[in-house]
Amino acid sequence: HKPLKVALLGGGNVGAQVARILLDDADSLAARTGARFELLGIAVRNLDAPRTAPLPRELLTTDAEALVKEADLVIELLGGLEPARSLIQTAIAHGASVVSGNKALLAADGATLYQQADAAGVQLSYEAAVAGAIPILRPIRDSLAGDQITRVLGIVNGTTNYILDQMDSTGADFATALAEAQRLGYAEADPTADVEGHDAAAKAAILASLSFHTRFALENVHCEGISSITAADIAAAKEAGLVIKLLAIAEKFPAKDGEEGGVSVRVHPTLLPREHPLAAVHGAFNAVFVEAEYAGELMFYGQGAGGTPTASAVLGDLVSAARRIVLGGPGRTETTTGEVAALGIEAVQTSY
Ligand code: HSE
Repeated sequence: HKPLKVALLGGGNVGAQVARILLDDADSLAARTGARFELLGIAVRNLDAPRTAPLPRELLTTDAEALVKEADLVIELLGGLEPARSLIQTAIAHGASVVSGNKALLAADGATLYQQADAAGVQLSYEAAVAGAIPILRPIRDSLAGDQITRVLGIVNGTTNYILDQMDSTGADFATALAEAQRLGYAEADPTADVEGHDAAAKAAILASLSFHTRFALENVHCEGISSITAADIAAAKEAGLVIKLLAIAEKFPAKDGEEGGVSVRVHPTLLPREHPLAAVHGAFNAVFVEAEYAGELMFYGQGAGGTPTASAVLGDLVSAARRIVLGGPGRTETTTGEVAALGIEAVQTSY
């Protein structure tokens, strides 16, 4: 198969590792995929920003839109709503499949983007958006498609798990543990998104949407973070044989007293018995505990943050999308403006 052109948007912690692996492992990726990946370029905001992996200078560009229009496959690791959304729509409109790690965007607009990708016959995959390296979205969507999920409990934010675990095991205070999580590269650029539970809430919305085949957006998720948890709370929980974890919870609740049943989606600090499998998730690790009608209890465990682990999930999606193209699935097509209009996608202009 001819080489597949890849546009990488974002040269941050995860983007830099994705680029490094695409270049270092080019031969083995080609053998596994059936086509070579040709990294067209890496769109960044600042050409001179420091990188966590050395990136070939000649691949860096600030013109994300031009890059997207040339690509068969677009990897979006910019984070935030814009210009990420417009660039993904441009990619879809030009017939490119998209791999994204953008939990905020997918929680806000995932359903619309998914429909647009579907209408255009391309793939939109986002395994990296929830729980980093852990394969969880595809198992929920595909492997459990014949089952009925009743409850999902997730430790889906590494920063807060690290903080709570440090407070529990070493008696560290909140600020010290947070600074260490930031140093290790787990925290968001603005750690408020971690400690107030917003990052976990975005992931909860994505997990709930896939688990219960209904659209949940961020505003449907009740959210409470860990910033008011004190050393005394942790000590009291310990005394009672419990541990405090920040959980993302999506669960079915039955009809009761004339009220309809439904699904509750929420993020809040939760007391767990020390014997619960999720209580054994230490440091910045993530885990998702799934309860299903026929499968029973399942737990998915691994590294939920960090450049290389998250790059693993991105590359898995990339290889999978590429294999579909190789097997004669959707590839880049020359789409005319008329066809783009028929998809209901406005032609997008982005300054970047
Ligand atoms: N800030 C996130 C975390 C990164 O701590 O889990 C992964 O989304």
